[in-house]
Amino acid sequence: MKGIILAGGLGSRLMPLTKITNKHLLPVYDEPMIYYPIRTLVEAGITEILIVTGGNSAGDFLRLLGNGKKFGIKGLNYAYQEGEGGIAEALGLAQHFADNQKVIVMLGDNIIQGSIKKAVEDFDKQPKGSKIFLKEVPDPHRFGVPIIDGNRITAIEEKPKKPKSNYAVIGIYMYDAQVFEMIKSLKPSDRGELEITDVNNIYIKNNIMTYEIIDGWWTDAGTFDSLFKAACLVESKKKKSM
Ligand code: DAU
Repeated sequence: MKGIILAGGLGSRLMPLTKITNKHLLPVYDEPMIYYPIRTLVEAGITEILIVTGGNSAGDFLRLLGNGKKFGIKGLNYAYQEGEGGIAEALGLAQHFADNQKVIVMLGDNIIQGSIKKAVEDFDKQPKGSKIFLKEVPDPHRFGVPIIDGNRITAIEEKPKKPKSNYAVIGIYMYDAQVFEMIKSLKPSDRGELEITDVNNIYIKNNIMTYEIIDGWWTDAGTFDSLFKAACLVESKKKKSM
């Protein structure tokens, strides 16, 4: 399975921190944000990774990460997203890299405490479809929120005003190669983006999505509050493991 980290977008919720650099290059405690999703994928056994980024600081990713040797991976690849057309648009740029294999996609501003190795192995064995992760949160309206009926997710709503569950769909997604054709069929949402939630809803409709509740903490780092929270969580994890 190949790994894709999405690190484009303008990071407008973090202005002025993102005025002269990309959100994913900002520090989270003692390392740049982008290090964390790379480590999560590498720890899960992924050896080939594509980073999709954009904007004026794209070259800084190359300066920071080079060929990825520091992380022990076979190869680090880069793609450039023009503008900010959405998570699904950014993923669409990875079709050539994916080369008809399954992919694991991680949003560059998502950080988790634990490991997803077992889930990745399970999805490797899953004949087709997709797998997502959920986490119970106090503020589901900020995220994609699943509607759950028994054990089944029947739909996902993107940032609903009245969430129908207390879960967030976190920014780690596993897909089979069909995902790229699905992305081509999407229409931009009201906020002008190709939404990953629309992709996930196609998999749900086709009845080929599985999910897991992720162990340990999870946070995004795309707002001042969540960036600060991410730094605190990472600090305490690192100090505990000393
Ligand atoms: O963090 C999980 C949430 O991420 C999910 O629950 C939501 O369903 C999903 O839509 C997303 O919500 P956000 O509004 O927080 O996404 P944001 O626009 O902050 O983008 C998250 C990452 O995706 C960002 O760090 C970089 C990447 N991205 C985003 C956009 C809009 C791109 O690479 N290109 C883009 O055009």
